[in-house]
Amino acid sequence: MTLSVSGLHAGYATASVLNGVDFTVADGQSVALLGRNGMGKTTLVRTICGLRPPAVTSGTIVYDDVDITRRPSHLISRAGIALVPQGRRVFGSLTTLENLKVVPRRRGGRGEIWTVERVFDFFPRLAERSGSMARSLSGGEQQMLAIGRALMTSPSLLIMDEPSEGLAPSILDVIQDRLEGLRASGLSILIAEQNVDLALDIAEHVLLIDDSGTIAWSGLPEALRADDQLLERHLSI
Ligand SMILES: Nc1ncnc2c1ncn2[C@@H]1O[C@H](COP(=O)(O)OP(=O)(O)O)[C@@H](O)[C@H]1O
Ligand SMILES: [Mg+2]
Repeated sequence: MTLSVSGLHAGYATASVLNGVDFTVADGQSVALLGRNGMGKTTLVRTICGLRPPAVTSGTIVYDDVDITRRPSHLISRAGIALVPQGRRVFGSLTTLENLKVVPRRRGGRGEIWTVERVFDFFPRLAERSGSMARSLSGGEQQMLAIGRALMTSPSLLIMDEPSEGLAPSILDVIQDRLEGLRASGLSILIAEQNVDLALDIAEHVLLIDDSGTIAWSGLPEALRADDQLLERHLSI
């Protein structure tokens, strides 16, 4: 169940953003995608997940030996790739429970099977808020719900787009702990982040995307942590 992105060019009517992106996420691997604001992290994860815009101009996205480039999002979900979108995007006027129940389930996949009960075991806070409208949840609870909705598809690759954005440190600890649990369970993870500490904690491998629209550097978290120039140039740290 490897994800391979090769020579990917993609963007919008007004601008090309990705100009030859190459990387792989191996089965069971956790990979962090880092880069300054506006470098194309969201563009890349939306492209992988078949969301429009952006549009692919050339290159290929292969998952589990199947070419999924330009496939519609529901088929990519069925192939086992789930996205936790930037900004969470839960249904505000549905309850927590309804938000989980409306997710189209995947049958016959190879990922672990997730149910509402299992999501509630995983995030007990969501069980407590089961009957509450999603719009009334805190930011952290909405993030848990967004992750829960992605897990309801029983994915084999979980992609998260800035899950830490706008969250209080106490909630961040909970989310980080749960993501470590998912990684330990063998789920493949691709996490786009600006929070370098969180990303490097979860990831076994790091990709840096820059304004050339390519992966400017890739390597081990330890190597990035030890390289002040790299941190300064790509992440303003
Ligand atoms: N819907 C859109 N239409 C046109 N340009 C967009 C759209 N979404 C993002 N962009 C542009 O694409 C570039 C990359 O944005 P994005 O992928 O959101 O970066 P990141 O997630 O790394 O912050 C930015 O220059 C942004 O302005
Ligand atoms: Mg983004």
